[in-house]
Amino acid sequence: MPLNNPVYENNPFDPDNPVAYENWKAAKLENYPQNADALIVEVDDPRRLKPSEHEAILERCNKANMAVYIGKTGDDPDRLIPATLGAQFGLRNLDRNMGADDDGITALQVVDDQWRTRYIPYTNRPIHWHTDGYYNSLDQQIHSLLLHCVHPAGEGGENALLDHEIAYIRLRDENPAHIKALMEPDAMTIPANIEKGSVLRPARSGPVFSLSHEGRLHMRYTARNHSIEWKNNSQTHAAIAALENLLMSDDPCIYRLILQPGWGLISNNVLHDRSGFNDNAPHSRLLYRLRYFDRIN
Ligand SMILES: [Fe+2]
Repeated sequence: MPLNNPVYENNPFDPDNPVAYENWKAAKLENYPQNADALIVEVDDPRRLKPSEHEAILERCNKANMAVYIGKTGDDPDRLIPATLGAQFGLRNLDRNMGADDDGITALQVVDDQWRTRYIPYTNRPIHWHTDGYYNSLDQQIHSLLLHCVHPAGEGGENALLDHEIAYIRLRDENPAHIKALMEPDAMTIPANIEKGSVLRPARSGPVFSLSHEGRLHMRYTARNHSIEWKNNSQTHAAIAALENLLMSDDPCIYRLILQPGWGLISNNVLHDRSGFNDNAPHSRLLYRLRYFDRIN
């Protein structure tokens, strides 16, 4: 992004503005949640939040880019539960990605015999750290992500979560050159998805860290090491190694939890992973995933 872009004006994410960055960081870390419990908001009905419930969720999203709601809907599979909750935070433009159903909502569950078995989200295997939609084109990036649990797995299926702004802080404090490397427009390339000779998705290059039109930080990342090409220079390799170390660390801002029936995560597409799991019939794991082009507001 050119440095004369107006979103850079006094922007803390401008790598050449340490004063704006330090001011923003001090405010960001003040009263930052210390554990996953601090993200939780108990609500009656996610479809009709009370003003105090809405406020509590928004407050956590403003601070940590995420909140966990615990609703009283239990294992009610109504897909309107997460969709209506999201709409109360301005989330309306769903990414109708390949795995989504007609309403744009994706049911994440283990399936046996469809094309989905090629894609890890539809299996019980672990999923490495990532942000959602990193392979989308740059004008179709995912700015928020909602996960709603109908049934957890019999065992496992834990999510780890890390606010991408905290990842930014850790890397910038370690070495500002990491940030510059990860803001390069060709830092990370996802090769084309080609099946039986037809191109399902062309190769896509882009930065890891970028700024939205409103000047907010966006992150595009996956820790998978196949089907991904990092810019081949020492700065990029050092930055990626630092990020991998952070994600494998016991950083106090990495939270872990297993969503239970009626619980959900609402986030500005923070970094997350998922451990492998085992299903116990008849209650196999079912989560709804909603990816939006909007940011929570
Ligand atoms: Fe994800």
